[in-house]
Amino acid sequence: MKNEILVHDHWFEPYLSAEQIQARVVELGRKISVDYAGKRPLFLAILNGSFMFAADLVRACDLECELAFIKVTSYRGLESTGKIETVLGLNVPLEGRQLILVEDIIDSGNTMNALLPDLHKMGPSSMVIAALLLKPECLKHPLHIEYLGFEIPNRFVVGYGLDYDGLGRNLPAIYQLKK
Ligand code: IMP
Ligand code: MG
Repeated sequence: MKNEILVHDHWFEPYLSAEQIQARVVELGRKISVDYAGKRPLFLAILNGSFMFAADLVRACDLECELAFIKVTSYRGLESTGKIETVLGLNVPLEGRQLILVEDIIDSGNTMNALLPDLHKMGPSSMVIAALLLKPECLKHPLHIEYLGFEIPNRFVVGYGLDYDGLGRNLPAIYQLKK
């Protein structure tokens, strides 16, 4: 794992190694495989940030499942704008499906809070959240996260799908903004 890295104008330091992330994702996958044994859940990954987590999570799940994507955006630079835009719509019917929403990180919870009622209207039979990261200090809405990777402090992170203004998504590990 690299030491400090420069992304645009900010320095970031190592926070979670690729090995730590993989180990946790495998645990989550095992849990999902047990909970959904004999069922056929639909993973709905929220782009862009969750693409890497979703790819690893579904591979860690030993069950019949489907994967679809939706794209929403709420961040500009290092801060949440609070408003979400759905950029890429959904082309799979959710009616009667057992949905597992896959999110890279839950910060204010604005994205999930805005998205959940819309998805609910589409009639899934169940809907749970799988999130790799949660910043509990930032959460503005009560959200139940069924499958959570790590709780992290309120510091901006990049890597493993997460970006800072478009950069850093390809890093295999997660880095935290230096103080
Ligand atoms: P929320 O709506 O405030 O919960 O933010 C959710 C979205 O903001 C996440 O899906 C991420 O794409 C992005 N985000 C939140 N915190 C970070 C961070 O520390 N690094 C990179 N992206 C973040
Ligand atoms: Mg995201």
